[in-house]
Amino acid sequence: MLNIIAISGSLRAASTNSALLAALAANAPADCRVQLYDGLGRLPIFNPDEEGERTPSEAARLIEMITRADGVIVSCPEYAHGMPGGMKNALDWLVSGEAAVGKPAMLVHASPRSLYARAALAEIMRTMSFALFGGGLEIALLGKKPAEIEMILDEEANRQAMREAVRAFAGSIRGQNVTSSY
Ligand SMILES: Cc1cc2nc3c(=O)[nH]c(=O)nc-3n(C[C@H](O)[C@H](O)[C@H](O)COP(=O)(O)O)c2cc1C
Repeated sequence: MLNIIAISGSLRAASTNSALLAALAANAPADCRVQLYDGLGRLPIFNPDEEGERTPSEAARLIEMITRADGVIVSCPEYAHGMPGGMKNALDWLVSGEAAVGKPAMLVHASPRSLYARAALAEIMRTMSFALFGGGLEIALLGKKPAEIEMILDEEANRQAMREAVRAFAGSIRGQNVTSSY
């Protein structure tokens, strides 16, 4: 069983990125457990003076979760051509230690735009030594209302695409050279 942590960069209750990750978790293959990280909004703003023995409890929890995980999936909105501060803040807490080093990661997208945020995430996560998976998934949910989002994510083609994306990522984690159709 692979244990994968999913991080949404949005704190909105009706977040399209969080909805996408919840659907990914629900449609993951039976041999993958995808768990959503729920602490982004509780993380204190990163301060290197607060690392080590002084690491705040939520940051320590995040570091522990990523350390134990077999992989990480991120879905993140774009604000003003960047990633939201909360997402960057979470990554900043992971820079100094070993949690991110060689950790398989996959980016998925709930918006067909957000190209700056995608590029920035990829650049930052590669710099942190995440092993960024070449595949991914995009399901356009931008501007959709919750009921519509639910309908789109429940479409068989999208459920299959989500299952396939996680399967391909899991395959790459297991070193089976599975390539995504994305
Ligand atoms: C303050 C703000 C700035 C935004 N800036 C951009 C942007 O620069 N580029 C873009 O593609 N979308 C931008 N958006 C749209 C969001 O990325 C979009 O609403 C996204 O669905 C939000 O993700 P969520 O549904 O998970 O909260 C912005 C939204 C907000 C609230």
